[in-house]
Amino acid sequence: MPQWRQGLTKSLHQTRSMPESRYFQLATVDGSGTPFCRTVVFRGMTDENQLVVISDTRTEKYSQLEKNAQAQVCWYFSKSREQYRFSCLATIITASQDINLVKQHWNKLSDAGKKQFLWGEPGTPRNDGTALQIEGDFDEVPPHFCVILLAIESVDYLNLRGNPQSREWHQKDANGNWVSQALIP
Ligand SMILES: Cc1cc2nc3c(=O)[nH]c(=O)nc-3n(C[C@H](O)[C@H](O)[C@H](O)COP(=O)(O)O)c2cc1C
Repeated sequence: MPQWRQGLTKSLHQTRSMPESRYFQLATVDGSGTPFCRTVVFRGMTDENQLVVISDTRTEKYSQLEKNAQAQVCWYFSKSREQYRFSCLATIITASQDINLVKQHWNKLSDAGKKQFLWGEPGTPRNDGTALQIEGDFDEVPPHFCVILLAIESVDYLNLRGNPQSREWHQKDANGNWVSQALIP
C-alpha cells in the first residue's frame, strides 16, 4: 500500500466520528478550460487506488469529465489539520457498462438517498410551490445513476500540525512504484 494511502486510512480513522470528513471537493474543467468545483461524498477506495464517488450523468461534472478526464480532489481533515490534493484521472461507469458495480452502490443508498436521483433533471427550473414528484422505482437503478472512479496519479499532502508544517509529494516512477519527496511547505 502506498505511503500516502496508509496516511489517508489513518486520517479517515481519526476523523471517523465526523461525517464531514467523508466529503471532499472535486474540481473539473469544461471545454473552454473554465474550472468548476463541487462537494461530493467519499464512497470508498478500490484496490487500484481509485476514489469512488456516485453521481448523475445529467450533471455538469459528467459532461466535463467525458470531455476531459483530468480532475483534482481537495480534501481537508479539520480535526487532524491535514490536506490531501489528489490529481486524478476519472472513469465513469453506468449500469450499461457494469451493472453489478452500479447496483452495488445503488443498493447501499437509503430511500432518501435514492429519491435524490428520481426528482427529475438536476439544474433545470423548478416550479414554485409544487412538490417534487418521484419518477421511477427504488428497486431499479436509474439509467443516469453512475459511479465515478478517480484514479490517483499524484498526491500533494500538507499537515498543518507542527512547526514547521510538513508537506510531501507522492508520484509514480517509470516502473509504476510510488516515490515520495518531502517539500518545503
Ligand atoms: C455535502 C455534500 C455532498 C454532496 N455529495 C454529492 C455526491 O456524492 N455526488 C454528487 O454528484 N453530488 C453531490 N453533491 C452535490 C454537488 O456538490 C453538486 O451540487 C451537484 O452534483 C451538481 O454539480 P455539477 O452540476 O457541477 O456536476 C453534494 C453536495 C454537498 C453539499
